Amino acid sequence: MDKEEFFTDDVLTDKIYDREVMRKLLSYVLRYKASGLLSVFLVLITTVLFLLCPYLFGYAIDHGINKGDRALVYHTALAILGIETLRLILVVVQSYNIQAIGQKVMLDVRMELFRHVQSLPVSFFDKNPVGRTVTRLTNDIAAIGELFSAGVIVVIGDIFIIIGIFVAMVMLNGKLALVTLSVFPIIVMIALWFGKRMKNSFREIRRKLARINAYLNENITGMKVVQLFNREKKNYAKFDEINDDYLKEQVKYIRYFAVFQPAVNMVSALAVGLVLWYGAGRYMHGFLTLGVLVAFLTYVHDLFDPIRDIVEKYNIFQGAMASSERVFGLMREPAEMDYVISNPSREVSQRDFKGEIEFQHVWFAYHSDYVLKDISFRIEPGQSVALVGVTGSGKTSIASVLTRLYEIQKGTILLDQIDIRNIEKIGLRYIVGLVSQDVFLFAGTLRDNITLFNPIPHAKVLQTIEALGLMPFIDRMPGGLDMEIAERGANLSVGERQFISLSRIILYDPRVIILDEATSSMDPISEVLIQNAIQKVTQGRTSIFIAHRLSTILHCDKLIVLSKGEKVEEGSHEELLRFGGLYSQLYKVYMKEELMGHA
Ligand SMILES: Nc1ncnc2c1ncn2[C@@H]1O[C@H](COP(=O)(O)OP(=O)(O)OP(=O)(O)O)[C@@H](O)[C@H]1O
Ligand SMILES: [Mg+2]
Repeated sequence: MDKEEFFTDDVLTDKIYDREVMRKLLSYVLRYKASGLLSVFLVLITTVLFLLCPYLFGYAIDHGINKGDRALVYHTALAILGIETLRLILVVVQSYNIQAIGQKVMLDVRMELFRHVQSLPVSFFDKNPVGRTVTRLTNDIAAIGELFSAGVIVVIGDIFIIIGIFVAMVMLNGKLALVTLSVFPIIVMIALWFGKRMKNSFREIRRKLARINAYLNENITGMKVVQLFNREKKNYAKFDEINDDYLKEQVKYIRYFAVFQPAVNMVSALAVGLVLWYGAGRYMHGFLTLGVLVAFLTYVHDLFDPIRDIVEKYNIFQGAMASSERVFGLMREPAEMDYVISNPSREVSQRDFKGEIEFQHVWFAYHSDYVLKDISFRIEPGQSVALVGVTGSGKTSIASVLTRLYEIQKGTILLDQIDIRNIEKIGLRYIVGLVSQDVFLFAGTLRDNITLFNPIPHAKVLQTIEALGLMPFIDRMPGGLDMEIAERGANLSVGERQFISLSRIILYDPRVIILDEATSSMDPISEVLIQNAIQKVTQGRTSIFIAHRLSTILHCDKLIVLSKGEKVEEGSHEELLRFGGLYSQLYKVYMKEELMGHA
């Protein structure tokens, strides 16, 4: 994994607003129109209720206390209690409602992204580290969720409150409103100064956290090598360093945060003081009632909380925007062309194909260098062919392009004289089954791994395995088919994993079988069992063996010899031996190995 790339990827951009991203985000929210409208409505109502209270204070003072009207004071107090209660109930409803929208949007985005990721070509996963794709599906989507739980609506509410307070102030007393406004340049300066520093620090925190994640990811995955090569101490020291870096940045951020709040409170106090000083003078001269002054002071006091809140939310906003951009970026990755979720009828595709394969001048490169060069050959239906060649000669690549895990650049591959590009991938993979060199196992039981979680009756599984003479493998496992298999098959030997992958393909029952066998991972007895099973499975099917064992090669009708991506020889074992080329050289090595291995 390119570590640098891994974490620069998670760095935030300066953008807080991007029309494209906003539009896309909005499209998810709009699926919940009713809840969304309810949210906006609730924000408006709660804001109005919030603004009402200071006004009522003033009213109670001027018309109740001043005029000795006890009943009015009593009624106003009750009204204030009622309004506050109603407001708090609505706040609860609002908070529940907005969180629910956020969770639903997250669910939708996650599902859509997962479906998209499943449809991406294998080459995408060659280029992108797993960790990055997982981060998109988890952390980034969580960051989008924060927009709802802590972000947007609250900020909209804050803006409403600021505007509302200003309107109320101007309506109450224009001059006092102007006095309050005079502190605004100070608050703007403070907000900008802290905002910028908090933003930079927040960004550094994200970067350093990504670095910790990348480091942990790599070292936990590679723990075996770490321990075998006694790297623990060195890795610990390195981790200490990056961990400490992270801590320092966090402390810096907290420091800004800690100073920022009191700074805003200072300005708030300054504004209250100014209003009190100026307002008291106006009151004494009879230009202002006491009630208006009290109401005004309360408004001034409430004005600064939403401003502080907005500055603090800025980072959440930015984080969410950056995450959204990355999530939507992944969604824009081109999917495989003909991917369909629904399975076409398997019987039809199977019955219709005889399993004739033809490569016509095939050229293929993973990136820029061709690993298959001008490859042409033909395999008759039911024929068995061995691909032979040294490591890296392109054998697995042939299997990959035949199953269209990768697309070729030049030439044509025909299946029953049909260009495989014209066969739906999902259908193609029913016809051509590949037992891959590296067996991948999922966490689950042995049966799950053989059936790949398909609902195949127990009896049928057993019967298939029995018919192939592979029961000894099952008997050997504790718990038989119910044995729990750990993630990636960690609790199985390499040979046992091969047995599973072979059973998988047998149940899958494809017309054409490609067996990319791993080199010598079985004892001779197990190998005989497997070989016999393979014999039975490939009977009557077109089969391609990527063979490392002489016993397999000798069983085949035809051999194709590859060297550095080119086909150098083709023919039967005897023909090629007589020819005296690369194969005859390889054969001598095979012979020697076989004698040493199984003598
Ligand atoms: N996913 C990939 N991305 C880029 N290059 C690859 C990829 N897979 C294989 N290659 C390259 O393609 C060439 C052919 O590889 P291939 O896997 O077909 O060899 P092979 O004949 O199967 O070897 P082996 O016997 O070791 O399995 C190699 O040079 C390899 O480095
Ligand atoms: Mg290979």
